[in-house]
Amino acid sequence: MVKPDFDSATTAIGTPNIAFIKYWGKRDDSGLNTPNNSSISMTLDETLSTKTSVLFSERLGKDTLYINGDEEPIEGGRISEKSAYLKRILDHMKRIAGVDHHALIVSENSFPSGAGIASSASGAATLVFALSEALNLEMARKEMSITARQISGSACRSLFGGIVKWRAGTEKDGSDSYAEQVFDSSYWPELIDIIAIVDSSKKRVSSSAGHAATVKTSVLYGARPAFAENGVSEIERAVAAKDLNRLSMAIMRDSNNMHATMLDTWPPIMYLSDASKDIIYKVHELNESEGKCIAGYTFDAGPNAHIITSEEHRDRVMETLSEIDGIRETIESHMGGGPRLLGEKDCLIDEAGIAPKNSNTRKE
Ligand code: PMV
Repeated sequence: MVKPDFDSATTAIGTPNIAFIKYWGKRDDSGLNTPNNSSISMTLDETLSTKTSVLFSERLGKDTLYINGDEEPIEGGRISEKSAYLKRILDHMKRIAGVDHHALIVSENSFPSGAGIASSASGAATLVFALSEALNLEMARKEMSITARQISGSACRSLFGGIVKWRAGTEKDGSDSYAEQVFDSSYWPELIDIIAIVDSSKKRVSSSAGHAATVKTSVLYGARPAFAENGVSEIERAVAAKDLNRLSMAIMRDSNNMHATMLDTWPPIMYLSDASKDIIYKVHELNESEGKCIAGYTFDAGPNAHIITSEEHRDRVMETLSEIDGIRETIESHMGGGPRLLGEKDCLIDEAGIAPKNSNTRKE
C-alpha cells in the first residue's frame, strides 16, 4: 500500500441526494444504520455541495474537525452522536492505513445546514471519500458507501452519481447494506429538482431521534417497508422509461406515506409547515390542470420542498411556486456525478500554519 503524503492536504467535493423513496426507520439500535427498507435517490449536482479538506500531520496534537468555520468537538464528553461515529470511522480508517498521525478536517457546505436538505449526507459522503483518498486506501465505492452509512444512513447514497439505490440488506453486520448506481447522471439530463426553501432553521426533531421514535410507536409504520420496496421498483421502471407522470406519482405517494408515519409517531413528529402544505396543494392543482403529473413534491425531515420535474415543465412549475407565500428562495439542481477530488486552489487548509483558512475563531 502506498503511504499517504503527509505534506499536502486532500480536497474533495460531494453533494446531497434527494430520496424519491425514503429511508425512515432502522432495523435495530446497533448504530450501524441498517434500514428497514431499501431507498432510491437522485444525487444532486454541485449547485449545493460540501467541500472537505483533510490533512494528516505529526504537528497536530489531536484530531480536529471544522464545519463551516466552527470547530465541532469529536473527542471528549459532550459530542453529538454523528461526531462520535465520525471519530470511530476516522480511527478505523487510520488503523487500516497504518497511520498514527492526527487529522485536521475542514468542511464547508454551500447550503443551510439542518434545513432538511441533507447536509449530513453530503458531509459524511464527502468526508469518507476525502479520507480514503488522503490515506491512499483505494477503497471501492461500495466500501465507502458502507462506511458513510454508519455516520448518516442517507449518506451512503451520495457516494454515487445519478440515480442510486440503497439495498436494505439482511446481514446483521450491515455488510450487504450499501448503495449502488442504477442510472448515471447523463441518463435523464432534463430532470430537475427545484428546492423551495420555506425555512432554513434547524429542525426540531433530529432524524436520528425520529427514526427510532417512529419504529417504536407508529402503528402505521408496519405497512411502510413493503410499500417502500414496491416504490423502489416503481421508480426504477419510471426512470428507465423516462416517464415523468409515473415518477412524480410514486415520489409524492412515498413522501406522504413517510410523513404519515411521522405524524402517527407518539408524540407526533411534524416536519411539514403551512407553506409545505400549500406547495402540496398547488402541485396537485397544477398536475390536475395538466391532466397528468408533470411535477412531484417530496419532503425529507424538514419543511422544504423538493419538486421533481423536467426542463420542459420548469417554467410552469416556477410560475406555480411564485403564487405561494412563504417560499423564501428556490434552488435548482440537475443530477450530479457524485464526489470527486479538487485541486490545490480549492484547499480549505492553510498548510503552512496547519489551520483552516476560514475559521470563525480566526476571523474574530
Ligand atoms: O440519514 P438520516 O439519518 O439523516 O435520515 C434521513 C432520512 C430522510 O432524509 C428523511 C429520507 C432519506 O432517505 O434521505
